[in-house]
Amino acid sequence: MAVVEHNILGDHRGKLVAIESAVDVPFEIKRVFYIYGTEPGIPRGQHSHFKTKQYLIAVNGSCKVTLDNGSKKETFFLNSPNIALFQDAMIWGEMHDFSKDCVLLVLASDHYKESDYIRNYEDFLLEVNK
Ligand code: TYD
Repeated sequence: MAVVEHNILGDHRGKLVAIESAVDVPFEIKRVFYIYGTEPGIPRGQHSHFKTKQYLIAVNGSCKVTLDNGSKKETFFLNSPNIALFQDAMIWGEMHDFSKDCVLLVLASDHYKESDYIRNYEDFLLEVNK
Protein backbone atom coordinates (compact mmCIF):
# COMPACT_ATOMS: atom_id res chain seq x y z
CA MET A 1 0.00 0.00 0.00
CA ALA A 2 1.71 3.07 -1.14
CA VAL A 3 1.14 6.35 -2.84
CA VAL A 4 2.66 6.49 -6.31
CA GLU A 5 3.52 9.69 -8.12
CA HIS A 6 3.12 9.38 -11.89
CA ASN A 7 5.06 11.48 -14.35
CA ILE A 8 3.11 14.39 -15.75
CA LEU A 9 3.56 14.45 -19.51
CA GLY A 10 2.39 17.07 -21.91
CA ASP A 11 3.61 20.37 -23.14
CA HIS A 12 2.54 24.00 -23.44
CA ARG A 13 -0.94 22.82 -24.47
CA GLY A 14 -1.62 21.07 -21.19
CA LYS A 15 -0.94 18.00 -19.08
CA LEU A 16 -1.35 14.26 -19.49
CA VAL A 17 -0.78 11.22 -17.27
CA ALA A 18 -0.47 7.77 -18.89
CA ILE A 19 -1.06 4.56 -16.93
CA GLU A 20 -0.44 1.18 -18.54
CA SER A 21 -1.95 -2.09 -17.37
CA ALA A 22 0.59 -4.36 -15.62
CA VAL A 23 3.32 -1.78 -16.23
CA ASP A 24 2.39 1.26 -14.14
CA VAL A 25 -0.27 -0.66 -12.20
CA PRO A 26 0.76 -3.91 -10.46
CA PHE A 27 -2.01 -5.99 -12.13
CA GLU A 28 -3.92 -6.44 -15.40
CA ILE A 29 -6.75 -3.90 -15.43
CA LYS A 30 -10.10 -5.64 -15.97
CA ARG A 31 -12.47 -2.92 -14.81
CA VAL A 32 -12.61 0.83 -14.47
CA PHE A 33 -15.17 2.73 -12.42
CA TYR A 34 -15.37 6.18 -10.95
CA ILE A 35 -17.03 7.67 -7.93
CA TYR A 36 -18.34 11.22 -8.05
CA GLY A 37 -21.15 13.41 -6.76
CA THR A 38 -20.55 12.15 -3.24
CA GLU A 39 -22.68 14.03 -0.72
CA PRO A 40 -20.77 16.11 1.87
CA GLY A 41 -19.71 14.17 4.95
CA ILE A 42 -20.55 10.80 3.40
CA PRO A 43 -17.92 8.03 3.48
CA ARG A 44 -17.84 5.39 0.72
CA GLY A 45 -16.20 2.05 0.25
CA GLN A 46 -16.14 0.52 3.73
CA HIS A 47 -15.38 -2.91 2.42
CA SER A 48 -12.55 -5.24 1.50
CA HIS A 49 -12.07 -7.68 -1.36
CA PHE A 50 -10.92 -11.29 -1.20
CA LYS A 51 -9.06 -11.06 -4.53
CA THR A 52 -9.59 -7.73 -6.25
CA LYS A 53 -6.75 -5.22 -6.20
CA GLN A 54 -7.46 -1.57 -6.85
CA TYR A 55 -5.61 1.54 -7.92
CA LEU A 56 -7.21 4.83 -6.94
CA ILE A 57 -6.69 8.28 -8.44
CA ALA A 58 -8.54 11.50 -7.67
CA VAL A 59 -8.57 12.77 -11.26
CA ASN A 60 -10.45 15.85 -10.09
CA GLY A 61 -10.82 17.37 -6.63
CA SER A 62 -9.64 15.50 -3.56
CA CYS A 63 -10.53 12.86 -1.01
CA LYS A 64 -8.94 10.84 1.75
CA VAL A 65 -8.60 7.06 1.75
CA THR A 66 -8.05 5.07 4.92
CA LEU A 67 -6.57 1.61 4.39
CA ASP A 68 -6.64 -0.94 7.18
CA ASN A 69 -4.91 -4.34 7.19
CA GLY A 70 -6.69 -5.46 10.34
CA SER A 71 -3.97 -4.28 12.69
CA LYS A 72 -2.87 -0.92 11.28
CA LYS A 73 -4.74 1.95 9.63
CA GLU A 74 -3.20 4.58 7.43
CA THR A 75 -4.90 7.58 5.82
CA PHE A 76 -3.80 8.98 2.46
CA PHE A 77 -4.76 12.28 0.85
CA LEU A 78 -5.39 12.08 -2.89
CA ASN A 79 -5.44 15.58 -4.33
CA SER A 80 -3.76 15.44 -7.71
CA PRO A 81 -4.42 13.55 -10.99
CA ASN A 82 -0.85 12.22 -10.93
CA ILE A 83 -1.07 10.74 -7.41
CA ALA A 84 -2.32 7.16 -7.11
CA LEU A 85 -2.89 4.76 -4.24
CA PHE A 86 -2.60 0.99 -4.52
CA GLN A 87 -5.06 -1.01 -2.42
CA ASP A 88 -4.20 -4.67 -2.23
CA ALA A 89 -6.68 -7.50 -1.76
CA MET A 90 -7.75 -8.18 1.84
CA ILE A 91 -7.31 -4.55 2.85
CA TRP A 92 -10.29 -2.71 4.31
CA GLY A 93 -10.76 0.63 2.55
CA GLU A 94 -12.82 3.69 3.28
CA MET A 95 -12.95 6.80 1.11
CA HIS A 96 -13.98 9.97 2.92
CA ASP A 97 -13.71 13.76 3.03
CA PHE A 98 -14.62 14.05 -0.65
CA SER A 99 -14.46 17.52 -2.10
CA LYS A 100 -17.67 18.46 -3.91
CA ASP A 101 -15.89 18.22 -7.27
CA CYS A 102 -14.06 14.94 -6.54
CA VAL A 103 -13.97 12.31 -9.27
CA LEU A 104 -12.22 9.24 -7.87
CA LEU A 105 -11.08 6.90 -10.63
CA VAL A 106 -10.61 3.26 -9.63
CA LEU A 107 -8.75 0.71 -11.76
CA ALA A 108 -9.52 -2.84 -10.65
CA SER A 109 -7.92 -6.23 -11.25
CA ASP A 110 -11.20 -8.13 -11.60
CA HIS A 111 -14.69 -7.84 -12.98
CA TYR A 112 -17.43 -6.85 -10.56
CA LYS A 113 -18.50 -9.79 -8.43
CA GLU A 114 -20.42 -9.24 -5.20
CA SER A 115 -19.05 -12.53 -3.78
CA ASP A 116 -15.56 -10.96 -3.77
CA TYR A 117 -16.70 -8.31 -1.27
CA ILE A 118 -16.40 -8.41 2.51
CA ARG A 119 -18.80 -5.69 3.63
CA ASN A 120 -18.86 -6.45 7.35
CA TYR A 121 -15.84 -5.28 9.35
CA GLU A 122 -16.09 -8.10 11.91
CA ASP A 123 -16.07 -10.65 9.08
CA PHE A 124 -13.02 -8.90 7.61
CA LEU A 125 -11.16 -9.19 10.94
CA LEU A 126 -12.04 -12.91 11.14
CA GLU A 127 -10.73 -13.44 7.58
CA VAL A 128 -7.41 -11.59 8.03
CA ASN A 129 -6.74 -13.34 11.33
CA LYS A 130 -7.37 -16.82 9.89
P1 TYD B 1 -20.65 0.14 -3.70
O1 TYD B 1 -19.57 -0.86 -3.69
O2 TYD B 1 -21.64 0.09 -2.60
O3 TYD B 1 -20.07 1.64 -3.80
P2 TYD B 1 -19.02 2.44 -2.88
O4 TYD B 1 -17.79 1.58 -2.77
O5 TYD B 1 -18.79 3.70 -3.64
O6 TYD B 1 -19.60 2.71 -1.54
O7 TYD B 1 -21.39 0.05 -5.11
C1 TYD B 1 -22.57 0.81 -5.40
C2 TYD B 1 -23.42 0.01 -6.36
O8 TYD B 1 -22.77 -0.15 -7.63
C3 TYD B 1 -23.73 -1.38 -5.85
O9 TYD B 1 -25.08 -1.66 -6.18
C4 TYD B 1 -22.82 -2.28 -6.65
C5 TYD B 1 -22.67 -1.52 -7.97
N1 TYD B 1 -21.37 -1.73 -8.65
C6 TYD B 1 -21.33 -2.37 -9.87
O10 TYD B 1 -22.36 -2.81 -10.42
N2 TYD B 1 -20.14 -2.52 -10.51
C7 TYD B 1 -18.98 -2.06 -9.96
O11 TYD B 1 -17.90 -2.20 -10.58
C8 TYD B 1 -19.01 -1.40 -8.67
C9 TYD B 1 -17.77 -0.89 -8.03
C10 TYD B 1 -20.25 -1.25 -8.06
